Amino acid sequence: MTNPLPPLPERVANKRVVIRLSTRSDAPFLQKWWNDPNVMKPGGDPDGMQYDDDDMEAWFQRNVDNRNGAYHYVICLHDPNETPIGEFYITCDDRPGAIEVAILIGETHLWGQGYARDAIETYAATVFASGSCDAMRVNMPRDNLRAIGLFESIGFDVEHIWANGEFQTMILTQAAYEYELYKRENTG
Ligand SMILES: CC(C)(COP(=O)(O)OP(=O)(O)OC[C@H]1O[C@@H](n2cnc3c(N)ncnc32)[C@H](O)[C@@H]1OP(=O)(O)O)[C@@H](O)C(=O)NCCC(=O)NCCS
Repeated sequence: MTNPLPPLPERVANKRVVIRLSTRSDAPFLQKWWNDPNVMKPGGDPDGMQYDDDDMEAWFQRNVDNRNGAYHYVICLHDPNETPIGEFYITCDDRPGAIEVAILIGETHLWGQGYARDAIETYAATVFASGSCDAMRVNMPRDNLRAIGLFESIGFDVEHIWANGEFQTMILTQAAYEYELYKRENTG
């Protein structure tokens, strides 16, 4: 099967964050975050994943060794050690020019400091400028008010509410993103 993903960057950075492709050395961080109910509950996994080492190895084989139509990144602080603080997962479906994102900041003491916003905006600016994609989608439970506030403030709109009423898909088109930037620049 042809990989439908557009060409995407291996590394994106701004002053505060670095987004780089995941490697096996990231496994302890990912395992800690995925197993933490406080991190996973807002996305719809109230108990956390509770992955053991074998689960982590299987996950890396499936999603990193054989990329399987997805790009998995780790979000790091832009410090000398590039300290991992979260993950960023990009997939693609049958809609050309669009990617789907999932994000978490696994270090909960860093929530509310703008790291997720930095990561999403920096990544969006890079892929939109490259011409390889013109829309980003994200799914979340409708009670995940923190995530909804974050995505709305970047310029995402609700595209679809799922039939069970509990989940929604939000979309950021390149045009909406550029309009959001224009508004910010012109309102100080
Ligand atoms: C959702 C999540 C990624 C946000 O990360 P974060 O680094 O805390 O987010 P930011 O600090 O960049 O927040 C940016 C914006 O989000 C919104 N926001 C943040 N906290 C909020 C809250 N408690 N309620 C409502 N909106 C909130 C605000 O608009 C904020 O902008 P502001 O700082 O200008 O007010 C993080 O809480 C997380 O990892 N949650 C678990 C996983 C998840 O829910 N992922 C989203 C679905 S894919």
